[in-house]
Amino acid sequence: MDTNLDLSCTLVIFGATGDLTHRKLLPAIYNLQYQKLLPESFIIMAIGRKNKTSETYREEAYKAIKSFSRFPMEKEIWDDMSHKIYYKSMDFLENEKYVELESSLKSIDDKHNTKGNRIYYMAVAPENFEPIIDKLHSYVIKREGKTWHRVVIEKPFGKDLESAQYLNSKIVEVFQEKNTYRIDHYLGKEMLQNIMVLRFANMFFEPLWNSKYIDSIQISSSEKVGVEDRGGYYEKAGAMRDMVQSHMLQLVSLIGMEPPNDLDTESIRNEKVKVLKALKKITQENIEENTVRGQYGASQSDKESFLGYREENRVSAISDTETYVALKVFIENFRWAGVPFYIRTGKRMPEKSTEIIIQFKSIENILYFKEKALQPNLLVIRIQPKEGVFFQFNAKEPGTQQKIIPVQMDFCQNCRMGINSPEAYERLIYDVMRGDSTLFARWDEVEYSWRFVDNILEAWRNQKPDFPNYGAGTWGPKEADILLNKDKRSWINI
Ligand SMILES: NC(=O)c1ccc[n+]([C@@H]2O[C@H](COP(=O)([O-])OP(=O)(O)OC[C@H]3O[C@@H](n4cnc5c(N)ncnc54)[C@H](OP(=O)(O)O)[C@@H]3O)[C@@H](O)[C@H]2O)c1
Repeated sequence: MDTNLDLSCTLVIFGATGDLTHRKLLPAIYNLQYQKLLPESFIIMAIGRKNKTSETYREEAYKAIKSFSRFPMEKEIWDDMSHKIYYKSMDFLENEKYVELESSLKSIDDKHNTKGNRIYYMAVAPENFEPIIDKLHSYVIKREGKTWHRVVIEKPFGKDLESAQYLNSKIVEVFQEKNTYRIDHYLGKEMLQNIMVLRFANMFFEPLWNSKYIDSIQISSSEKVGVEDRGGYYEKAGAMRDMVQSHMLQLVSLIGMEPPNDLDTESIRNEKVKVLKALKKITQENIEENTVRGQYGASQSDKESFLGYREENRVSAISDTETYVALKVFIENFRWAGVPFYIRTGKRMPEKSTEIIIQFKSIENILYFKEKALQPNLLVIRIQPKEGVFFQFNAKEPGTQQKIIPVQMDFCQNCRMGINSPEAYERLIYDVMRGDSTLFARWDEVEYSWRFVDNILEAWRNQKPDFPNYGAGTWGPKEADILLNKDKRSWINI
């Protein structure tokens, strides 16, 4: 990382008393401080609705960091950081509070020499994005000299194409595209950044990375937990908006993209967006053969029992919100013609895991195993919680018999790195400070993701689902297995 840039700035966190700030943002900032990556003039202006002093907020921040940081709490580092945290209580909707905010930020600029540079981080519910940006425009942001003002928008970016377009139109009134950071924290994960390196820095992957040699690709992201206390949000989102529109389609674009002609931000994003533009539309006509949706029902075993989604807190007892999605997706271009990308994501699955499985075509059974098929080569990119690369190939079993068995090479990145594997938010916050938006979604990526997802949601609206249709703690509805079985394939659980 380039450490020569002047990173002086104030990070203004809207929603500083919320879950995201406590679990992710504050620990990430502490970790940056721990690694000496923050400048002397880095200030946090924490904004929440609750009434409290900066001193009480610092105590709260201390506890959050102690619980969630990957580095131990060290007094010297904390002392250095804590006196640069300020708290301001305000309601996002009150105009006069923004006038006060600007005055506080101005005093901070003067006191701490932050050069007037600011990052406005929207760690708030999506309905608050627009009013805050609007009021920042009216009362806070003044384009002055060489100062920069950047905005970070948490996901979800809109709830459909129309609302995303509207939100974007509001943002561009205030911030230039280069100063707009639409965060998808998956993009900050180490193995996601590694996908391009694996593909484009290895002679034995890139030449095979096409429909001639690849049979199919599976992208799975499962969570063990249910909806927890986020029922209010999830009811309006569902797995499609929460996971597919952002994380899953970002993975598809990284796996499917052409090599960029440069590693600069725009070259990479240009290639990613081409993939999203080339996704075959799923509409009313082909919805049945390409999609499965599910919702978990209650389940009980000797070991544990789970509530069904409809029994969860702040969820309607007749909810039709999907907690599981499986899709068969095609990228309509020369490289990927005819190669299905099977995507699945769900809550209350048997384990938490995100991985990409590249299944290579089977070799013709001419020499070996004429009567029994050889196992296909598999390349597995593990994103979380394990990070690494797993490769399965065929080898002779030691012994006198000519027996061929699949064997595995397993590179575990976080076994090697241990707790030192950086958190996604660390990398992303640091990138915003440096003005590098490569790991953030550009507007057209968001736009084309919504175009694809909106068609499916529209087609689903015309048909009432038969929910619940899978038991909590299982791998999803049986229709998801049928989706692949019809193509003579099945989901691979490594
Ligand atoms: N939590 C996560 O792990 C996670 C992960 C990915 C994305 N996100 C996204 O991050 C955003 C924040 O999520 P969260 O889980 O942190 O939400 P949260 O725990 O509900 O926190 C919301 C924050 O907004 C503040 N707030 C709400 N209405 C306000 C108002 N009218 N005026 C002033 N402050 C107000 C709350 O302040 P008070 O508490 O003081 O009332 C609180 O600080 C959401 O867009 C979410 O989708 C969250």
